[in-house]
Amino acid sequence: MTKIDIRTTVREQYGAMARAGSSCCGPSTNGCCAPAADPTALASAIGYDAAELQRILPDGANLGLSCGNPGAIAALKAGEVVLDLGSGAGFDAFLCGPKVGATGRVIGVDMTPDMLAKARGNIAGYTQRTGLANVEFRMGEIEHLPVADASVDVVISNCVINLSPDKPQVWREIARVLKPGGRVAVSDIVLLKPLPEAVATAINTYVGCIAGASLVDELKRMMREAGLVKAVLTPKSAYVETLITGDDPLYQQVRAGLPAGGSPVDYITSMDIAAVKPGACCAPGCC
Ligand SMILES: C[S@@+](CC[C@H](N)C(=O)[O-])C[C@H]1O[C@@H](n2cnc3c(N)ncnc32)[C@H](O)[C@@H]1O
Repeated sequence: MTKIDIRTTVREQYGAMARAGSSCCGPSTNGCCAPAADPTALASAIGYDAAELQRILPDGANLGLSCGNPGAIAALKAGEVVLDLGSGAGFDAFLCGPKVGATGRVIGVDMTPDMLAKARGNIAGYTQRTGLANVEFRMGEIEHLPVADASVDVVISNCVINLSPDKPQVWREIARVLKPGGRVAVSDIVLLKPLPEAVATAINTYVGCIAGASLVDELKRMMREAGLVKAVLTPKSAYVETLITGDDPLYQQVRAGLPAGGSPVDYITSMDIAAVKPGACCAPGCC
């Protein structure tokens, strides 16, 4: 498939999920990032606090499409500007809003019109619950961010960069929009070793956040070439283990395509991905 075909298919599939109102995966569908029957249970398994979700999130903001908890590694402070790449229905954007408070701002970017409409429709519920009006959603591709140079303190993203047909460009865009000293706090699927051909070329495993994932060394190289430093990649096994234990159809398909005895955990993991854009040097030894 061409890059355009991939983007169109990803947009169509995630548009369908937005319209369905929850994760629409299953044997009869084309797969998606988190085929969780219960999005709240998946969120708890990957590190979200159930009470916090209930307190802050409007109904329908958690579609069960996440594979990590980027807000937890972002160490957000009041007044910061946060950019959420592929913000979906607004899940992490809304959770980051109270952390940056009334003086901070969260911008979500997504290329899928139905997802964007859903996220924007959720803003009123967020404001009602928190009293805050500090989250906005912009239409756009993460390869061409509708965001000014050096204007963002922290870039977060949850299970999205793997879906991009041009990942080096995404990392260059992240470096462009970050302020000097700005931080990356991303959760994404990463490959521990190359997938067998049958798994790597299936479009449903691409839409399902598996086949498009980068190898660890490729990811480190793209971040380095974009000019980001202090990269720390931390594997988080809970997401893949939860889907395997739950007999998720997509992960069953992956297992069937592996050599006998192979498990998806040998190939696929979720990772916390942290890095920094070099800042103005202010002390001996700083970057
Ligand atoms: C797996 S979902 C994750 C949504 C959200 N981050 C969450 O955790 O609930 C992927 C989202 O990324 C969006 N997306 C995928 N590729 C994109 C791209 N190249 N540019 C902008 N958005 C993209 C999709 O429309 C979808 O909303």
